[in-house]
Amino acid sequence: MCGIVGYVGKKNALPILLEGIKHLEYRGYDSSGLVIGVHSNLKNTDIFFDKSVGKVSNLEAKVKKSIRPKLNKITKFNSQIGICHSRWATHGIPSEENAHPHFDCNKEIYIVHNGIIENYAVLKAELIKSGHKFSSETDSEVIAHLIEEEKKKLKGRVRIEKAVKNALQKIKGTYGLAIFDVNEPEKLIAARNFSPLLIGIGKGEYFLASDATAILKRTRKVVYLEDNDLAVLTPRGYKIVGLFKRASKRTPQIIDWNMEKMKKGEFAHFMLKEIYEQPESISDSIRGRIDYKNNKPVLGGLQLIKKDLKNIKRVIISGMGTAYYAGLLTKDYIEELAKISAVAEPASEFHHRKQIYSKDSDLFLCFSQSGETADTLSALCDAKSHGVLSLGIVNVVGSSISRTTDAGVYQHIGPEIGVASTKAFTSQVVIGALLAVLLGLEHKTLFSHEAKSILDEIKKLPLKIGKILEDSDKIKQVANNFQKYNNFLFLGRKYNFPTALEGALKLKEVSYVHAEGMSSGEMKHGPIAMIDSTFPCIMIIPKDSVYEKNISNAEEIKARSGPIIAIATEGDNTINKISNETIFIPKTLEIFTPILATVVLQLFAYHFAVARGCDVDKPRNLAKSVTVE
Ligand code: AGP
Repeated sequence: MCGIVGYVGKKNALPILLEGIKHLEYRGYDSSGLVIGVHSNLKNTDIFFDKSVGKVSNLEAKVKKSIRPKLNKITKFNSQIGICHSRWATHGIPSEENAHPHFDCNKEIYIVHNGIIENYAVLKAELIKSGHKFSSETDSEVIAHLIEEEKKKLKGRVRIEKAVKNALQKIKGTYGLAIFDVNEPEKLIAARNFSPLLIGIGKGEYFLASDATAILKRTRKVVYLEDNDLAVLTPRGYKIVGLFKRASKRTPQIIDWNMEKMKKGEFAHFMLKEIYEQPESISDSIRGRIDYKNNKPVLGGLQLIKKDLKNIKRVIISGMGTAYYAGLLTKDYIEELAKISAVAEPASEFHHRKQIYSKDSDLFLCFSQSGETADTLSALCDAKSHGVLSLGIVNVVGSSISRTTDAGVYQHIGPEIGVASTKAFTSQVVIGALLAVLLGLEHKTLFSHEAKSILDEIKKLPLKIGKILEDSDKIKQVANNFQKYNNFLFLGRKYNFPTALEGALKLKEVSYVHAEGMSSGEMKHGPIAMIDSTFPCIMIIPKDSVYEKNISNAEEIKARSGPIIAIATEGDNTINKISNETIFIPKTLEIFTPILATVVLQLFAYHFAVARGCDVDKPRNLAKSVTVE
């Protein structure tokens, strides 16, 4: 998720842009930049431009030295126009070259972009062939050159919005866009497809923003752009047209939220917001990564090492905490779908042991949302020092782990702010499944029709998660009914053993109660001694290949008066004769029951902790990224 702010009007644009973009830093910032056009009485336009890596405060310091003195000299001007951007990298590491705004060859068209251009590689190759020179590794820069190319094709008096419209009709992917052409210095162009963007309405001035927090101090009157909208803003007004069909009529709305509430939207906490983002974050994680025509995953980040994947005989998987559990589940996927031996181990244990590597046939695969977890980085370095091929499934672009692995797959889920990892887990598991399918097809251990059924089901997961989210109130009720307990066992088998571990971790870290995840099969070997009416079990019992065994476990627990919360497949009317509470998940492939069950467990942990009055976004003693071993 990146942040976009735009302004056109009679005031000095600079402070408006900087103030606005600072309010959007929660959407992610690894670099930022801005461009300002000053349309003076002499009918010419001065352009001021700067970018910086890191927080917006770095850009502000740079701008104070470079732009402000020049701007202060221009006292008389018709209008000022500007666009500003804080970047959450998806393609290309955080750097000044990759920071937005991007521009065309003549440095006349400036664009800032939030989203992912799926067909940028093809478009970029065509543009390079027509002589365009690129200055960044990003997908976004393609947009500026494409508009330049479309402008050239238009004869006569060219209006920038026409060139933009033609360019966007060639683009596949998601965007929130603000565009400025120095040749039409009183015009700001905006376009939206999937990534949020709104117009702020002032008196003789108009704003663009990714969300209203950026402009709340300037105006509370806004119009939300919809998908396939194209808008033209000038100091005299704005108009919204449709890219492909007439735009719907839009009535300005008055925002009556305060700033803090704005950042979390209608959610009380970032953790809840990120749980609810999972239909979107899973869609973003797989966007452009499944070739449904040929029933195969397309993981661009592995292109360079694809031939090496054919020689892999063992996958060594590592990570910490939730990321480790995503790896543990991926181990099962790789063994089940690709028939390749896989081992998984917490990184904190991994690098203390004398690992026995087979450098020509081992693959080291690590999982990390932040890409900065010290234990995971250390395990990765150990594997690399033995010449083992390494992959990373990471969210933060340009992070230490992503820069150390030989190749990898970025999660594309935007920043995860809540300390408790939620959307990162389900994203990592889905990408892990795509990798397992890819390995299975490469090693010819997975038939195409098997790959098809898995990939088709992955596409349905966002909808199925949406159905679970509708049950949040029921899950909240269950969490409230179990407030009197301070110990919980989470039980699952096979693919849901990692789910049990993850569910226990969620509850522990946000509500501080003791919770232990374990395989249901372990119970008879000791843990069942703990069970009585004061010791509840949360059991993941979907209708899968180990259902009967799980039902026997549930009956053994019930026979000892242990309270049971069951997570079961909708339509199962056996389990609710045994359990005290049952929360149903939609039917899905057995390998994906962990994803749906985990969403229930995230909500259970969240509501349980809120009922206890805990700070779910910043739990005591924890940090979002553990950069020490
Ligand atoms: C999970 O909710 C925790 N916040 C923690 O276990 C986390 O998953 C772990 O520290 C790994 O972090 P990473 O994904 O950034 O490497």
